[in-house]
Amino acid sequence: MSGNDSFARNMVPEQQTRSSHSHERPLRIAVLVSGSGSNLQALIDAIEAGQLPNVEIALVVSNKANAQGLQRALRHNLPTLYLPWRRHAEAEAKLTAILQLFAVDLIILAGWMRIFSAQFITQFSRRIMNLHPALLPEGGTGSVYVTSNGTCIPVFRGLHAVKQALDANVKVTGSTVHYVTAEVDAGPVICCAEVAIEEGDTEETLHERIKQVEHRLLVEAVRRYSINSSMS
Ligand code: GRF
Repeated sequence: MSGNDSFARNMVPEQQTRSSHSHERPLRIAVLVSGSGSNLQALIDAIEAGQLPNVEIALVVSNKANAQGLQRALRHNLPTLYLPWRRHAEAEAKLTAILQLFAVDLIILAGWMRIFSAQFITQFSRRIMNLHPALLPEGGTGSVYVTSNGTCIPVFRGLHAVKQALDANVKVTGSTVHYVTAEVDAGPVICCAEVAIEEGDTEETLHERIKQVEHRLLVEAVRRYSINSSMS
């Protein structure tokens, strides 16, 4: 990992891990995607390369039938599901049942564009990770982030975090892997890394560089989760 990556020390507090993952059984993850799925691909590649020895992708779910992420999953023969998201409560109930059926230990939101209810999140406390393309404070909440060189920058949340960073003229933004809580983009941080904004960056070029960083952050977050949960 690069010098600017930072990892929270207690990634998986024992009392909050209700997964049945153990030494005998691989960690079963569900990856939820709505778009290109490059982060899903990073996990697939890491598993195929033997970098996540005790992890398997149990299921890939998308709320979009045409998500490229679904095609990636199918190419690798992963169980793949298109779940239309018309009535929210009904869709969440279906997803819960499916996750249970597939004995999923950990849910990864990798470009998933739906917000879950507090009730859904509570059932999977500390078992849902999200990727956010900006820097979040360690506890998740708050409106200021202090960068590695001591500069205070605003916290950018929501759908347009990459554009917000560009519009704010900050020099650094980044990516964060965090646990999902009822407050959007505000859960406890698992790990994050800074990405310098370059002159001439557009939302696309900057987001692409952020994605390169988040691919390895996500793999490392899952690797550590799997090690910690197999010991608890
Ligand atoms: C990532 O930048 C992630 O931070 C954000 O959505 C993007 C998903 O990219 N939540 P991809 O679909 O994995 O390529």
